[in-house]
Amino acid sequence: MIPGVRKAVLSASPYVPGKTVEEVQRELGLEKIVKLGSNENPWGPFPAARAAMAEEIGRLNTYPDVSFRELKGLIARQFGLEPGWVALSHGAEGMLQTLGKVFLDPGDEVVLPKGTYGLYREISLVMGAVLREIPLGEDFSMDMAEMNKAITGKTKLVWLNNPNNPTGLALHPDQVEDFVRALPEGTWAVLDEAYGEFAAPGSMPGTKALLEEGRNIVAVRTFSKAWGLAGARIGYALARPELVTVIDTVSEPFNANRTAIAGASAALRADGEAFRTALDAIVSERERVSRALAAMGLRVLPSSTNFIFFTLPLDASEVSRMLLERGVIVRPCGGWGFPRSIRVTVGTAEDNSFFLEALSQVLAERKGERE
Ligand SMILES: Cc1ncc(COP(=O)(O)O)c(C=O)c1O
Repeated sequence: MIPGVRKAVLSASPYVPGKTVEEVQRELGLEKIVKLGSNENPWGPFPAARAAMAEEIGRLNTYPDVSFRELKGLIARQFGLEPGWVALSHGAEGMLQTLGKVFLDPGDEVVLPKGTYGLYREISLVMGAVLREIPLGEDFSMDMAEMNKAITGKTKLVWLNNPNNPTGLALHPDQVEDFVRALPEGTWAVLDEAYGEFAAPGSMPGTKALLEEGRNIVAVRTFSKAWGLAGARIGYALARPELVTVIDTVSEPFNANRTAIAGASAALRADGEAFRTALDAIVSERERVSRALAAMGLRVLPSSTNFIFFTLPLDASEVSRMLLERGVIVRPCGGWGFPRSIRVTVGTAEDNSFFLEALSQVLAERKGERE
């Protein structure tokens, strides 16, 4: 125990990131390593973003323009909103942290599903909030009726990740919209749409309409996933302008860096085609890998993201360790309470095939041991 550290901070656990290629190379001395553990996009950064970021390096001696005028405008246009409805951040993570600071006083309650992105829990605990965690259903879906029932007069925030990490499942837009419209006055929903671009066209909730109706929502998105800029650390929120002002006040003034701003702006301006090509490749590989996993007799959830959640008749951390020995990094889901499930990112066709081959070897080996 370190003297002086806040009690609430001690109640949170450190974030456990996926293993890096360098780490595995160091530990196992393998030559070929395929990283499918962190939901990164193997096609990014796209060409215009890459060029703009390289050029921007020469300006890193100066602070960025805190009005973020161009990027806010480009983002807003995608959603049919005005730039004043957009706030930027260091990745979606930075925005989630800021939202914790904006909304949570010690003793406030937060409602969230069990089996969702881990950071909501830690952010809430660090702020001294009380968790109301609602188990997922048998089919791994979020129980929106139970989430609604868990809201009390003390509930400040509902953390809603749609499509959800680690399950990859998307809620029907009506489920989200009905839930949001039924929120009491003092309760806000954070709609974390980090994987929204991978969902089927037209299947995401009508965020613009909900915002314009004045509902208590903040939608959070990122350039880390579909836009292939995870290392640049840039995300954003869509919220009503009064709240954007509050968010901008609470977050650090220069809360996005010059290279990320240049990359994200160039991507939205000129990388549309590369973005769509990558998205199509990910979606078609997602379907191929899902079919191949199902053909191995595994239970596979229908994914609306760039990863696939599947369940084995075996211990997932043991299977993940055996995959690692074969050079494949995946994410076992025991930490989320699913000890027999694995989350695997959709990579290039070559990497996915390497993973499928390694997995079939592991399954054959384990089957042989049991016979
Ligand atoms: C659901 C969800 N939200 C937010 C994030 C954070 O993304 P970023 O890289 O933009 O900080 C992630 C990253 O994996 C995520 O899965």
